[in-house]
Amino acid sequence: MTDIVVTEESQFVRDHLNAKIAAVEVASEEEKSALIVEIKQLLQQEDAVLVAHYYTEPELQALAEETGGCVADSLEMARFGRDHPASTLVVVGVKFMGETAKILSPEKRVIMPTLEATCSLDIGCPVDEFSQFCDQHPERTVVVYANTSAAVKARADWVVTSSIALQVVEHLKEQGEQIIWAPDKHLGNYVAKETGVDMLMWDSACIVHDEFKAKALIDLKAVYPQAAILVHPESPQNIVDLADEVGSTSQLIAAAKNLPNPQLIVATDKAIFYKMQQAAPDKLLIEAPTAGNGASCKSCAHCPWMAMNGLTNLRDVLKQGHQEIFIDETVRLEAIKSLNRMLTFTPNK
Ligand code: 13P
Ligand code: SF4
Repeated sequence: MTDIVVTEESQFVRDHLNAKIAAVEVASEEEKSALIVEIKQLLQQEDAVLVAHYYTEPELQALAEETGGCVADSLEMARFGRDHPASTLVVVGVKFMGETAKILSPEKRVIMPTLEATCSLDIGCPVDEFSQFCDQHPERTVVVYANTSAAVKARADWVVTSSIALQVVEHLKEQGEQIIWAPDKHLGNYVAKETGVDMLMWDSACIVHDEFKAKALIDLKAVYPQAAILVHPESPQNIVDLADEVGSTSQLIAAAKNLPNPQLIVATDKAIFYKMQQAAPDKLLIEAPTAGNGASCKSCAHCPWMAMNGLTNLRDVLKQGHQEIFIDETVRLEAIKSLNRMLTFTPNK
């Protein structure tokens, strides 16, 4: 395995993101406690509920749980937001999650601590280029990962998340469909390998999962021979090949609970440890290695965009409502069709 090369450009991006993340950090425990009290009051006052992802900071996950919100994977977040009666959804995660909430619940106000929290997969799949690609292969069914813009979802036939991708593609295989898959090539390759379906792949990746290192993972497993390896399928094939369990964030937490192994080596964003440790309190959770000695990594197993969510900007958006998601109605009406195919899909039917 080669180490990640830090180009001037990627260093620039990293410095930029680090500066954004530093800006959301809160100095003292007293300040945090005061913010938490204020946020709880504002949630009530604004008839708002927190919809948080497992990759956000533990204090945000805890707050979502304490206040009747949810901490979940991207599929469950979508369902929770759609079904919850609150008139304001505060999506604590990244922008595609906020957009999904708005597509499904146009009558609700959807706000986020910062609209700058995006995703390398979303960035890597601009709608114009993607549409041209689809136009070149009109015979293929277009399946896109949830980690895309509303406009890309609008161009697709199906949206999937990692927790349901295999079942949906198996279903399409039974219909004899050929597929265009975007944007995550690693998840796409995993699905194609498992299902044997002909999939034309868009070339994009998650900067967090792309950094796990197979050689270092094998070395770590030698130190903990009894450990199970849990892998999110956004990871490269050579990492997936070493896995005892491959799945979405929720599926990995369930595996952590159910597997008999005393130690678990986890190849996904390390913020998941908060809920995973609750599910498996007696097990030792170990981060899968992202870099060998002397190498450097862009994310070090924590999504830089998820990390832009903090208590301060959460309080601020509840007070000011300035980071609100809006979606063009024509785009929304198209995007909801592909999203609803996923949400109403029942495997093996
Ligand atoms: P999940 O659907 O498994 O929560 O994944 C979302 C994500 O962005 C993982 O990087
Ligand atoms: Fe996107 Fe990767 Fe961050 Fe998930 S972890 S939001 S796929 S960049």
